[in-house]
Amino acid sequence: MFKRRFGHAFLATVVAIASLTGAPRAQETGLTGADKAADIVQARQLLMDAAEEHIMFIDAVSAGKDLALSDMKSRAYQLNILLLAFPHLFPPQTTPAAGDRDGAFQTNATDAVWKDFPAFYQAAQDFAAVALDASQAKDIGAFRVYGAQLRAGCDSCHQAYMTPVEQPK
Ligand code: HEC
Repeated sequence: MFKRRFGHAFLATVVAIASLTGAPRAQETGLTGADKAADIVQARQLLMDAAEEHIMFIDAVSAGKDLALSDMKSRAYQLNILLLAFPHLFPPQTTPAAGDRDGAFQTNATDAVWKDFPAFYQAAQDFAAVALDASQAKDIGAFRVYGAQLRAGCDSCHQAYMTPVEQPK
């Protein structure tokens, strides 16, 4: 009797509706945007801090300092890796508004990131591509040209997608 009235199709529909109405998805592990938004924001900020560690040395070389080419190339390669991962750390639960609402985190990313996410994603990919080219520079002269492009890439992305942060005077 039950079997005939509530067959598989009916049950499948109930499950589908439950998932559409935002029923708790505690069983679905790995959706870290849902329950670890503050950690994701921290992860992307730490990732940027790591990028800063590398560009400091690259800037010094661009300014004429004589540092080992092999070290510069490996720093550029690290920048390639970091910027390929970076845009994956922007789930919709990590907007500035979400941080303000929950009081759980503070982000300096602006709404522009989510307004046209493909453009933001592309900016990160473009940067990563230059970093990859830099990691294969033939000599220090060629590396310096890439170094300037990398610095410009950091700055232009921040201009487009980041709230200006007051520099300590
Ligand atoms: C694709 C765009 C993009 C590129 C390229 C980029 N950044 Fe960022 N950066 C951001 C955004 C967005 C934030 C704000 C992150 C947040 O607060 O959630 C940020 C934040 C930062 C911060 C502050 C981190 C903190 O602790 O709050 C530093 C430092 C930084 N970036 C350095 C760099 C350096 C150095 C480069 C180049 C090697 C670079 N970024 C390239 C978008 C970018």
